[in-house]
Amino acid sequence: MKNSKLVELLNKMTVEEKVGQLSQISGEPYTSENFVVTGPLAEMGIPDKLIPVAGSVLGAAGAEANRNLQDNYLKKSRLKIPLIFMGDIIHGFKTIFPIPLGIGATWNTYLGQTTARVSAIESAVSGVHVTFSPMVDLVRDPRWGRVLETTGEDKYLNERFAEAFVNGYQGKNYSDPYTIASCVKHFAAYGAPEGGRDYNTVNMSERQLREDYLSSYKAAVDAGTELVMTAFNTIDGIPSTGNKWLLDDVLRKEWGFDGVVISDWGAVKELIPHGVAADEKEAAMKAMNATLDIEMMTFTYIKHLEELINEGKVSEDLLDEAVLRILKLKNKLGLFENPHREADVEKEKELVFCQSHRKKAQQVAEESMVLLKNNDVLPLKEKDQKIALIGPFTRDENMLGAWSWRGEPDTASNIIDSMKEMISPESVLYAEGSTLDHTDENMLDEAKATAKKADVIVLALGESAEMSGEAASVTDIRLPEAQMKLLKQLKALNKPVVTVLFNGRPLDLTEVDKYSDAILEAWYPGTEGGEAVANILLGNTNPSGKLPMSFPQNVGQIPVYYNHFSTGRPVESAPDQKYVSKYLDSSNYPKYAFGYGMSYTTFDYGKMKLSKETMTDNDTIEASITITNNGLYKGKEVVQLYVRDLVGEVVRPKKELKNFKKIELKPGQTETVTFTLSKDMLSYVHPDQKVKTDPGEFEVFIGGNSLVKKAEKFIYKKG
Ligand code: GLC
Repeated sequence: MKNSKLVELLNKMTVEEKVGQLSQISGEPYTSENFVVTGPLAEMGIPDKLIPVAGSVLGAAGAEANRNLQDNYLKKSRLKIPLIFMGDIIHGFKTIFPIPLGIGATWNTYLGQTTARVSAIESAVSGVHVTFSPMVDLVRDPRWGRVLETTGEDKYLNERFAEAFVNGYQGKNYSDPYTIASCVKHFAAYGAPEGGRDYNTVNMSERQLREDYLSSYKAAVDAGTELVMTAFNTIDGIPSTGNKWLLDDVLRKEWGFDGVVISDWGAVKELIPHGVAADEKEAAMKAMNATLDIEMMTFTYIKHLEELINEGKVSEDLLDEAVLRILKLKNKLGLFENPHREADVEKEKELVFCQSHRKKAQQVAEESMVLLKNNDVLPLKEKDQKIALIGPFTRDENMLGAWSWRGEPDTASNIIDSMKEMISPESVLYAEGSTLDHTDENMLDEAKATAKKADVIVLALGESAEMSGEAASVTDIRLPEAQMKLLKQLKALNKPVVTVLFNGRPLDLTEVDKYSDAILEAWYPGTEGGEAVANILLGNTNPSGKLPMSFPQNVGQIPVYYNHFSTGRPVESAPDQKYVSKYLDSSNYPKYAFGYGMSYTTFDYGKMKLSKETMTDNDTIEASITITNNGLYKGKEVVQLYVRDLVGEVVRPKKELKNFKKIELKPGQTETVTFTLSKDMLSYVHPDQKVKTDPGEFEVFIGGNSLVKKAEKFIYKKG
């Protein structure tokens, strides 16, 4: 439909019908033609007048089910404006990929895009039009349960994955088959709550917000995301959902975003407990005047906007602009011509959870896993060796992790069955050993008896899915005591112990390290997690994951992240001195650093070469280095480029990731990797909030993780 037709449609709408388009509810009322209100909507007191005019539904999926909802709704719609269906397809629809923190650990944006593409295919044929993804909140605090949903602590890595996810979901245009619209979230800086406590206060300067936290949302906007979801938290005392500076001045006017802004679940009404609105009417006014378009799962708009407009407290133009943005989104998705879009029962049967999707899920899972330690125990290649698989995650199909939408845990592959398929079943012994958080002496005894019969012990430990995700912040990031007891008692048998971890956040692995000869970080690896772990343990796949987020020595060290400032008393300058920035009881450095991950082979870096030593405004410098695979296995390596601005108008990080390249080398093979450095890569947000590059000296690092020390210097000169 032409946009002019949309304006004609808008002009036919009553105020109530317009406000209805700004409300998102769950789909229960439309499961039958008589719009019966049941479940949470009834308890929440949804006004009857909203049901026939609500513009969108969250959480509904299924080709037949959504076709039915749409038909029932349209039968009673005066102007036949179709519903738009939105949902949380975060790392897969039914074929579940690793959690996004694991996808980030692949450092492979092509794979990132693939996960979104597969998700879009399965969502589109199941009647979903919009996903509340990508979640791009930068994180530095593993106490926060939602770090699992992000791609980590670095803005450059987050930006690249944000683009990849948006492109994977939305494709080139919506006439391509199997595309859905994306909604980047949570705008903004939701990943920086004080104390790592979910929904808590976020406090930072505008300069730091712009420098570190906003760029990944902007990358999604620049990649064309159709929607932005506001965050629960305040920034400098103003909740994002009622923050006009953030939503209108920055997002819409400065960045040119002309799409739809939707609140998070109930976030409009939460302006009241936040303490910036006295009642629902004021909450509606503040959100609307901040240019928030859709109110999710509360009803302040339908209850108060008409009155606010009549009182002149909200302009009807603002209402019309919001409604037009939503009509344009529905029009872009072709819903006026075809309200069912791609919802197709036959296609759903053919494509959802199909073999080729699961194969992709396995590939991503294998590339997501990070080898943190290996004292020559892995891979398990010894002929006829007996392997004791022990721990709550060996059989447990809890491989999917939080936000696994329609993923079914019992459809996930597990380690035992996978290992038995790959090597002779009699080589694989099994005992549960302990539950996730409870020691049972009989289970422990059985595990020790099993382990005694084996040559090597593989322990599958981790967090229950409930221990990470939304509203799952913790103050202790160690494994549960029961699992540590199991590890220690098995290590006392003096056999090699391989610990495989299933978790949604960086953990304090100090004790795990002490009792493990090898540690493989598997995250929540998704539908094919068991298969992927088995392939890596047996050496069929060489691990290549690199950490997208630092693992602290302990919870007291948080926040610890690689791109920190030097301070006026850097510990490196005088490690034995008292009066330097350090702890009395811990190193300053993380246990495992950003960008770190081992391989079964060894990659040796040559000497970096710079094409010149001085850069001016319009030219670039090439930084080259050779990498050689000096080991026995073919392997993938993530070559990382870091830069340091030695003197700035404000203090600058000791390192900043500026590019990376994932290469694959056969044993003995050497490859030269070249990165191009330009002035823009050296820029940062200045105190005047402008993005500029200072002339001066810079250091360049190229290596396999953020601890790389060898650097070359160059100068940038204006002119
Ligand atoms: C939740 C989450 C958000 C999700 C929304 C809809 O509270 O914060 O990420 O998209 O509600 O389920």
